[in-house]
Amino acid sequence: VPGPTPLDMARAFRSVRADPLSFLVKVREQHGDTVSFPVPGAPALLVTDPLDVKRVLQTSARTWSKETVQYAALARVTGPGLLASAEPSWIEHRRVAAPAFHHERLAAVGDQVRAAARDSIEERLRDVPDGAVVDVAALTHTIGLDAVGRALFSADLSGQAQDLLAATSSSADIVVRLGRSILPTAEWAPSRTNLRLRSARRRLDRGAAEIIAQRRERHRRTGTSGHGDDLLGLMLDSGMDDRGIRDELVTMVIAGHETVAAALAWTLMLLAEHPGEQDRVRTELSAHPGAVSLVGHREQLPWTRAVVDEALRLYPPAWAVSRRAREPDVLAGREVPAGTLAIISPWLVHRRADLWPDPLAFRPERFTDGPVRAGYLPFGQGPRLCIGREFALGEMVVVLAELLRDHRLETPPGWTRPAPQAHAAVHPRGGMPLVVRRGAA
Ligand code: HEM
Repeated sequence: VPGPTPLDMARAFRSVRADPLSFLVKVREQHGDTVSFPVPGAPALLVTDPLDVKRVLQTSARTWSKETVQYAALARVTGPGLLASAEPSWIEHRRVAAPAFHHERLAAVGDQVRAAARDSIEERLRDVPDGAVVDVAALTHTIGLDAVGRALFSADLSGQAQDLLAATSSSADIVVRLGRSILPTAEWAPSRTNLRLRSARRRLDRGAAEIIAQRRERHRRTGTSGHGDDLLGLMLDSGMDDRGIRDELVTMVIAGHETVAAALAWTLMLLAEHPGEQDRVRTELSAHPGAVSLVGHREQLPWTRAVVDEALRLYPPAWAVSRRAREPDVLAGREVPAGTLAIISPWLVHRRADLWPDPLAFRPERFTDGPVRAGYLPFGQGPRLCIGREFALGEMVVVLAELLRDHRLETPPGWTRPAPQAHAAVHPRGGMPLVVRRGAA
């Protein structure tokens, strides 16, 4: 299988660390659909053909596990939570969590997500002069955390928000570092990364313990039969121990707020760059003056939903996922041995010109005809598909509705797009400064 040589990799070392997305785009251009990286031991393959992607994530998903550096690094923060767990027992936690993401439950928490969006918009934009440049990435971050807290844990995270935000973003930073390091770092070593990790973990533990204790206390006071039908209540009622609940809580905060926040920041940028498309969102919203629900928006607001889908194609926050073969399998027509590492990058698949004509153009029309085909995987595929998919899509539509009903976004003079930074999610380097004008006209 073609791919860069060890010398190429040594030369590219710095640029891979600084900008892995450009590196991936370049190696695919140079070497084709399947690229082999020169690592000792079993092969490491970058897989971009949709059939191979499907094979790894769906067809042979039992063969391909999450026993990879990427998920081992994440597990050092989240423990064996839903996202990082490589064990088949992950399914038991998924079963407990699933009802918190079902259609009826999402329909019921729309109010909380709308309130999270409205409060943050009001707080951040209240004192900002009309037409000022605002970092909308900071706004979407606050909304993302608040929405997860209110909808999944019925907790107002605003008191703990600053600390939790700082702790999650610094742990995400550490996870990225650990994931990229070539040699596994000994967990006990007093290295800077390990010390930062320990401190971030302590803060996450404290935040989680506080949320769990508050819920237990409320349950004791009110004497209700169950702990509630949000995610936290489901976990407490399932008899899961506090450690397991902590792991899922931290997982959901990490997986559920940076991703949505980054996706929304890119969506707002694309709409600021495309005023016609932005106006069409507003036209659609004015035909539906009522509250926008977390579910059913594909029918109610098809254009707004298509904008979200297209933004997730161009800027998929989860830019790479990885799997390890437990047994031999076949990829790109060749047998690959047990131990093979498969790296799948939605960023690359979404930019294939054979699947997406004029792939870099922002064209929501691609999605107005309904659900999409192969070659689109912002939320992954198969049994490990994102459990928060519907929640995230609903939240994005709700936030767009709350913001664009009475604000217009424009690009500032001398505009250049912020560089995409492949962090835990792909986020805009240096924030997303956009001009915010009041009024819809
Ligand atoms: C899994 C992306 C929002 C929780 C995943 C995966 C992707 C993804 C690609 C699969 C990873 C893999 O196969 O290796 C996204 C994107 C989001 C988003 C792009 C927003 C735009 C959320 C939200 C939550 C969440 C809002 C929860 C509140 C999870 C969890 C998993 C997961 C727990 C692991 C599921 C399992 O393995 O059973 N996400 N996600 N995500 N996501 Fe999301």
